[in-house]
Amino acid sequence: MKVLIAYATTEGQTRKIAETAATHLSDRGHSVTLIDVGEERSELDIKAFDAFILAGSVHQEQHQKALKNFATAHRDLLSARPSALISVSLSAALEETRPEAESYVERFGSVTGWEPLMILPLGGAVRFTEYDYFQEQVVKFIVMKRGLASKAGADGEFTDWKALETFVDAFVERSSD
Ligand SMILES: Cc1cc2nc3c(=O)[nH]c(=O)nc-3n(C[C@H](O)[C@H](O)[C@H](O)COP(=O)(O)O)c2cc1C
Repeated sequence: MKVLIAYATTEGQTRKIAETAATHLSDRGHSVTLIDVGEERSELDIKAFDAFILAGSVHQEQHQKALKNFATAHRDLLSARPSALISVSLSAALEETRPEAESYVERFGSVTGWEPLMILPLGGAVRFTEYDYFQEQVVKFIVMKRGLASKAGADGEFTDWKALETFVDAFVERSSD
């Protein structure tokens, strides 16, 4: 199956997630093209793909504008073929804050008009050593609010890699029906 994985990232965790999904699918014999929607690129014939995975992360309750623009521009094709959204945030990392992670996804859907076949809210990462003062304050607040307080001030990854693999396996299986 020809799969396009289109991602947007601000601090890099979603790139790592998209690359992991791409490697996982390539290892299983699929032909995968990975693009960063925030980068300039020569025109890609997106009609040539059988299935699509879009991935982006949440900052101040919003996904990246570049991902919103991509989903809006291609929503008819994305809705007509098997497509999935991976939404990366800290809220997705804990059961108690999952409804918040789901609300970011709902907002993304209402803004873009795209209805993915499958959706995965997935935990992201904190990188205090790379943040500026503003980012540090915002993330400390989020981390504490979400009961990840023991991690406040330290870098950490909250991505469930097994859940990612299970999700992409289920997605390609449903896409081949
Ligand atoms: C400035 C800032 C704002 C953030 N806002 C939110 C938020 O509103 N909700 C949330 O659940 N996570 C929030 N996060 C956590 C990010 O979604 C998380 O760090 C994610 O791994 C970032 O992915 P990326 O590295 O691909 O950009 C925020 C992170 C930063 C640095």
